[in-house]
Amino acid sequence: MALYNDKHPARQRAVDRSFEALRDLQKDDPKPQFSFLGEETVYGQLSLRDLREWEWAMRLGDAGIQRLEFEPTVTRDEYEEFLEQVLARLTLAAIDTSEQRTTRQSSIKFGAIGVRGEQKPLNDIVEAKVPMATINFSLEEEAAAVQWMHGEVGERGMLPLAEAEAVVRSLSLAMHGEQRMLMPLLELREFDEYTTTHSLNVSVLTMALAEYIGLGAREVRTFGVAGLLHDLGKVRVPTEILNKAGKLTDEERAVMQRHPADGARLILTSDRELDLAAAVAYEHHIMIDGGGYPHCHFRRACHPASVLVHVCDVYDALRTNRPYRGAWESARVLDYIGERAGTEFEPQVAAKFVQMMKELDDRVQRVER
Ligand SMILES: [Fe+2]
Ligand SMILES: [Fe+2]
Repeated sequence: MALYNDKHPARQRAVDRSFEALRDLQKDDPKPQFSFLGEETVYGQLSLRDLREWEWAMRLGDAGIQRLEFEPTVTRDEYEEFLEQVLARLTLAAIDTSEQRTTRQSSIKFGAIGVRGEQKPLNDIVEAKVPMATINFSLEEEAAAVQWMHGEVGERGMLPLAEAEAVVRSLSLAMHGEQRMLMPLLELREFDEYTTTHSLNVSVLTMALAEYIGLGAREVRTFGVAGLLHDLGKVRVPTEILNKAGKLTDEERAVMQRHPADGARLILTSDRELDLAAAVAYEHHIMIDGGGYPHCHFRRACHPASVLVHVCDVYDALRTNRPYRGAWESARVLDYIGERAGTEFEPQVAAKFVQMMKELDDRVQRVER
């Protein structure tokens, strides 16, 4: 729902499936009730042990949905409208107390558990959750770790996965040290370090975008790892080609364009569990109109993670000084992304990205290394 607009078939299918599951449950239990209490998920009177520490119970609780009750008369339309309200509460960006709709008469009741009138405004709940910390950080260690990781991959052809995950964890911490999300982005010092700084920046931007559209913490991290590894195949591209000031020759371009497939292969041989990162490495230069590379013989939709990474990748690449062109201003890059929405970029993802960058403009921390 966070990715597609309300008429999109993928979204409709997901809502259909979810609604069918509810109707199935209602065959045995016409008025199902759920409570989300911290780590506890309660169905009726029954505490669901399998769902202990279920991330969504905590997220729903934090968003003020601690109790949820369905009437036997619930319709598909009501259900979708309810999901939309949940989404609005979960998407930090969409939270605006003035816009909170009063729930009209519906077959679905939900809300916080507590005395009426004592409920805190949503903004307070969200902000109180995030601890205060200093914004003075450097990404020195993370950059060093990524550089080392690329070296390992280049020499041994194996990816040190634990380090990659540790880097993403620490980026995620750096992003959440303050009340509102921060975007620490590295400024390029040496052209040779482009792949390092670029990988870190794409990871941060991808996590920010994933969080902005309402994905859960685990998915956000998985997307962050995929963002970090998207250009891994570049360890196989000679630096002279990567940093060439002029136009690439046909042969050079062919070498360059092998990096998605090389990256995917490197990731898969290192760890089969990283199939999402491998898919993203393979797909991150494919445009939604089928352009880009690798060339697809049969058009198909890319994974949403690839679609997110693609926008973040282009943004960071254009924002950076390269031997063949100067860095663009953020506003110019955002215009460019807006213009190419629908041909190169998935329009809704592009729109969300532009909206996020405008909204969080003051939260971008340019970090020099
Ligand atoms: Fe790439
Ligand atoms: Fe890239």
